[in-house]
This record gives sequence, C-alpha cells and structure tokens, in this order.
Amino acid sequence: MLYLKKIIKFLKQLLLFQFLKIKYKKNAHPKIFEWNWDKKNFNRIAVVNFLIAKTGGLNSKYLEIGCQSNTLFNSVASIKKTGVDPVSGGTHQMTSDDFFLSNKEKFNVIFIDGLHQYQQVRKDTINSLNSLEDGGWVAFHDFLPTNWKEQHIPRLNSDWTGDCWKLAIELTHAQNLDFKIIKIDNGVGILQKKSSDWFIPDLSKNLKTAGFEKFMENVEKMPLYSFYEALK
Ligand SMILES: C[S@@+](CC[C@H](N)C(=O)[O-])C[C@H]1O[C@@H](n2cnc3c(N)ncnc32)[C@H](O)[C@@H]1O
Repeated sequence: MLYLKKIIKFLKQLLLFQFLKIKYKKNAHPKIFEWNWDKKNFNRIAVVNFLIAKTGGLNSKYLEIGCQSNTLFNSVASIKKTGVDPVSGGTHQMTSDDFFLSNKEKFNVIFIDGLHQYQQVRKDTINSLNSLEDGGWVAFHDFLPTNWKEQHIPRLNSDWTGDCWKLAIELTHAQNLDFKIIKIDNGVGILQKKSSDWFIPDLSKNLKTAGFEKFMENVEKMPLYSFYEALK
C-alpha cells in the first residue's frame, strides 16, 4: 500500500513537472554545461570535513541548514553539530529563519543547503555570517546549474540547484569575505569571514527576475577552482 502511494506521488510530481515545462517553455535555453559531476572525485562531504579539520576538528562547532536524510550531517566529523530542517533530519525541526531568530551560538563552519531560492539563500548567508566566528567558514551547495531547467523557479526538474547562482554573483563582489566555488558536486561554494566588517552588495534589482542567460554571462567571472586549487 505504502509502495503504491509512493508510485502515485512520483507520477503526480512527474506530471506536474511536464505541465510546468510547457508553461515556462518561453524561458528555455539550449546551452548545456558539461560539468561532468559524476567524473569528479570529491563532493561536499570532503569539503566540509576539510573545513572542520581546519577549525578545531572534533570540537569545531558545525551548523547545517537543510539536512533532509542526513547524508552530509551524519558524515561530518565533529561532536558539536546542529542541524536545521522543517521537514526531516538534523537536530531542530524548524525553518532557518525561525532558528536564527532565537540562536545565540557562534559556529566555526556552516553549510547552507536549505530552500534553494535566491532571496532565501541570501538571507541564510547574512544570518550565518552573523552567527559565525571570525575566521570561520560558510559553505554552500548547488552554485553551478547544468541547464536552464535545473535552476528554474518554480522547480521543473527532479535535479534542481535553484537560483542560488545569483547569490554567487554577489559574493564574487563581496568585501572582507574570501569566496571560491569548487567545481565538484553541482558547485560547492566556500566563504571565509575575514573580519566582522564584511559587505555583500545587494544586486537584487538586476538579479531577482534574471534568467539562465544571466548565469551564462557571469559564470566565467566567478572564482571557479578545482578541489585541490581551492583547498590550498
Ligand atoms: C537538498 S536538501 C539538503 C541535503 C543535505 N544538506 C545533504 O547534503 O545531505 C534540502 C533540505 O532543505 C530543507 N529546507 C527547505 N526549506 C528550508 C528552510 N526554510 N530552512 C531550512 N531547511 C529548509 C528541505 O526540507 C530539505 O530537506
């Protein structure tokens, strides 16, 4: 019975995606980026554990926004972990906004992987930087979409990065923050807080309604690195 319910849910989702792809076909673009994620040796787990090791190892204070089935959360080698997700996984069942409203703790490493929409990721980033020790790191998932469907709002695809790439454009021009995108696992961003005096430009006027072409225009200007180049 449970199996049948899952199949029906999956088919309904598939139908909805088909309907939305037709509705939004005016936004279609033929460009496909050959990121070859499946041929890269590393993923977000390797990056987060590298940052944990750099900032205190087992005692490094870790926060994850968006935990789902705890694939990453359970693989982080720290004994001081907090995970926030309104649906499943982690330690706090609530939205990131609600968590930050009452949080007083400072973390060493924060991974942002919650709601993949520009304005929400932007808010999560600002709240995270305010809850981060100086010299600490924020990391991100899904900065590099492969095609127009993968980054579309509303969601049209099971593989979905959302439009977090818009924040990556702003972070490229940020001050007192060291920003890189590692070319693994759909684009893993790393951001170091150099001092409390950081600044992220607000380009939302231009970016809010921008489509995939804007990503194509800007991707070459982003600080893209291989795994080893970035971690050096
Ligand atoms: C891509 S999954 C996270 C995967 C996980 N970080 C990993 O690497 O294994 C995204 C998760 O974000 C959660 N989410 C959605 N909106 C959120 C919000 N406002 N605050 C926190 N988490 C949110 C979803 O419930 C979902 O479980």
